[in-house]
Amino acid sequence: MSGAAKPVDSNKPLQALDHWEEFLKERYPEPEPELVGISGGAEEDVQSEKEWKRETTQFRDYRAEARPSVKEFYRLNHANQTLEFVLSKRREFLGLNRRRMGVWEAMEYLNTLVDDSDPDTDLSQIEHNLQTAEAIRAAGHPRWFQLTGLIHDLGKILWVWGEPQWAVVGDTFPVGCAFSDRIVFHEFFAANPDSQVPQYQTPCGVYEPNGGLDQVNLSWGHDEYLYHVTRDYLPEEAQYMIRYHSFYPAHRENAYTHLMNGRDLEMFAWVRRFNPFDLYSKSDQKPDAEKLKPYYMELIAEFFPERIRW
Ligand SMILES: [Fe+2]
Ligand SMILES: [Fe+2]
Repeated sequence: MSGAAKPVDSNKPLQALDHWEEFLKERYPEPEPELVGISGGAEEDVQSEKEWKRETTQFRDYRAEARPSVKEFYRLNHANQTLEFVLSKRREFLGLNRRRMGVWEAMEYLNTLVDDSDPDTDLSQIEHNLQTAEAIRAAGHPRWFQLTGLIHDLGKILWVWGEPQWAVVGDTFPVGCAFSDRIVFHEFFAANPDSQVPQYQTPCGVYEPNGGLDQVNLSWGHDEYLYHVTRDYLPEEAQYMIRYHSFYPAHRENAYTHLMNGRDLEMFAWVRRFNPFDLYSKSDQKPDAEKLKPYYMELIAEFFPERIRW
């Protein structure tokens, strides 16, 4: 990648939304999902491989290695995600009054309108979704888990509706309380107006200690939005996976346990189980969308009505 300076559109610093996810993979190198859950000696091998990767990579400075566009993306995200901003987006979107469409239809809608292809890969959004679902299926996980893999990123239609990239993707974090120093590019929070509000600068801020994440406002993005769109139709484990899959400060860095209740701590095992499939399901093999469609249409119909509110 050349670092040639280009004018940065403040709504669209990333060349492709996927570049945020590419950066996540650099930060969290892990074994392929196919290796997860293999029993016996193989599991030990996976474990030691994991440790090795962690040891050899923990001294790398991801922040220095990040593309300038990714840094700019985080700068905007951390400066603009205030409690007030999040509350306004919740009011704007969580009435779910935009359209009624089916789940596969939403996938096609995202696919045709996202003019955002990553030059490094040829995969469309649908193919990405199918790859995640297929990896989960190949690992022998239940149907609701496969479905969760298929749909977990559909909240990115916020981008289609003109939302800035920093309010669609990015690691999520609580607002209205102190920003953990385990959030990547933590220093960019200096420019966030909430940093000047003393009430928001205590560990729990406006929230109850261990009052549960459901009472906590996370930075606004595709996770929270899709959680609200789909929560009536999916098991609780799936709801957690969807709602918190970008909450890296919690599920990978173990921050914010002081806001979580017992149920959250239990359910985060599922968020962590899901994460490798989210990060590492990208293979070079293009899934055959037409061939897979009947299987996934049936799976969607098992859980969702024909159309749901977006
Ligand atoms: Fe996502
Ligand atoms: Fe994802």
